Amino acid sequence: MGIARVRWGIVATGNISTSFTRDLAELAGEAVVTAVASRSLDSADRFADQFGIEHRYDDYRRLLEDGHVDVLYIGTPHPQHYAIARAALQAKVAVLCEKPVTLTARQARDLVAVAHENNTLFAEAMWMRTHPVVQAFFADLAKGVIGEPMEALADFGFHKPQLPARLLDPALGGGALMDGGIYPITFVHMALGSPAELKAVGSVNEDGVDLNVAMAWRYDTGAIAALTCGLRSQNPWTASVSGPEGSLLLPHRFHHPEYYIRSTAAGEERIDVPTHGLGYHYEAAEVMRALRAGLVECPALPHAATIEILDLLDETRRQIGVSYPGDDEYLGG
Ligand SMILES: NC(=O)c1ccc[n+]([C@@H]2O[C@H](COP(=O)([O-])OP(=O)(O)OC[C@H]3O[C@@H](n4cnc5c(N)ncnc54)[C@H](OP(=O)(O)O)[C@@H]3O)[C@@H](O)[C@H]2O)c1
Repeated sequence: MGIARVRWGIVATGNISTSFTRDLAELAGEAVVTAVASRSLDSADRFADQFGIEHRYDDYRRLLEDGHVDVLYIGTPHPQHYAIARAALQAKVAVLCEKPVTLTARQARDLVAVAHENNTLFAEAMWMRTHPVVQAFFADLAKGVIGEPMEALADFGFHKPQLPARLLDPALGGGALMDGGIYPITFVHMALGSPAELKAVGSVNEDGVDLNVAMAWRYDTGAIAALTCGLRSQNPWTASVSGPEGSLLLPHRFHHPEYYIRSTAAGEERIDVPTHGLGYHYEAAEVMRALRAGLVECPALPHAATIEILDLLDETRRQIGVSYPGDDEYLGG
């Protein structure tokens, strides 16, 4: 696709849309935000004025109909992702949609099918996959520096006296697992793949929202993993993989770290990898590369992994007894 500057449209004007749009400035020569849509014109105007965006809408669908964009970034709460992403793909507008890309694996499978039917790029914004430190970490792991990986530990958790309301609202897909737990799950899936067996426990409040979750995974190779996430404590927020020859560790806020630690017989080494911006422009660059190549799938943000991880989230929520109002929404045939 011979696009001079890729035209981005932003759906929703909340926290992550703001961070993502700010970071797109790192790609100013090749990307431009041409449109933003919000549920209210006030918010759309405020956002558009802040970032110098030409077209602004008080309706997500009108942004698609007007045709000013090559790719849509979706930053609404998770329950809204599915319908908006589906409408965009059907309009043949490429989609980069926040994580978790849908509430269920069934919905994600449908979006992948719709992307193929319309020959239109679709990707989940799992930015951790494209982060340079995380990529260097997994390149080291693949070289075999720790031997056969046998154990993985990953944790994601924070507490704030005033948690954003979205995180505690079942109608907005609230809970520790879908918002934070998806990172430990993605990390361990990147290291070891999908497990043969998964067990999960969680503390669920009176509204049916999981406040913290512990998961144990077993593999037929003999490898195991322990994963935790929560909204009630200041967790270590680290991730590691270990094998007979040593271990690799991503430090606090492991999903966008500054360095990793390699511990082997040679000693303990801190490996720094230079990064810039907030870290969201890396996924945007990968999406634009795929768009220019005319791909339906962005190699750095693979469909199979998105679906397998949603399968794991489905099973975990089944075991801990968490369901959402939009869970069974399915727009496919
Ligand atoms: N990749 C990351 O680092 C990262 C970080 C945080 C969150 N996320 C993901 O991004 C998504 C949004 O999270 P956020 O923290 O940005 O949330 P947020 O600050 O609450 O913003 C969400 C935005 O979605 C729009 N929206 C549409 N329907 C809504 C509804 N029924 N209730 C509330 N807002 C609604 C609103 O924008 P308008 O009023 O303009 O329509 C709102 O500002 C989630 O899926 C989350 O998992 C990713």
